[in-house]
Amino acid sequence: MRRTFLFFFWVFLGIQVIRVDYDIPESVPENDLIALMSPPEEVANILTKSCYDCHSHKTEYPWYSQVAPFSWWTTHHVAEARMHFNFSKWNEMSQKDLETFAEEAEYEINEDEMPLPPYTWIHSGADLTEGEKEIMIAWLNDVGY
Ligand code: HEC
Repeated sequence: MRRTFLFFFWVFLGIQVIRVDYDIPESVPENDLIALMSPPEEVANILTKSCYDCHSHKTEYPWYSQVAPFSWWTTHHVAEARMHFNFSKWNEMSQKDLETFAEEAEYEINEDEMPLPPYTWIHSGADLTEGEKEIMIAWLNDVGY
């Protein structure tokens, strides 16, 4: 028992030295979704509190993301999220991309899949209330067509 504990303790310490890339590229304010689309203030607030940490360059890495193995997990999620949609590079979105975004985001919000569940366990304020979901969906319907 004690040996097993020590083994995991050393492994845990060992993995802390692996370098993790906390990629926070520069963000150009004019290229931001909120700057380009000027959504209603409520929508902007929801996006900021619930989506920007992963889907933009404005990521605020929480303390646990400094600790392996959580650091691997959070940085991977952020990289993947930005690959799908990056609110800091909204200038690169075509009308078609916007429609795809609106459609997929509506689906994800309806199914409670975004914001990503493990994130909302820790950032409880990021979870969308029923009212916030309605606000988002109404806006996404406007954007999509
Ligand atoms: C903790 C990080 C995180 C947060 C916060 C987050 N996302 Fe995501 N998002 C991801 C990841 C990772 C993916 C890609 C993998 C997947 O589809 O599950 C993704 C994918 C997506 C997709 C594409 C889905 C598809 O069908 O390809 C949409 C749309 C999306 N997110 C919208 C949102 C919206 C809207 C919010 C805020 C309400 C949000 N996300 C918050 C991590 C996040």
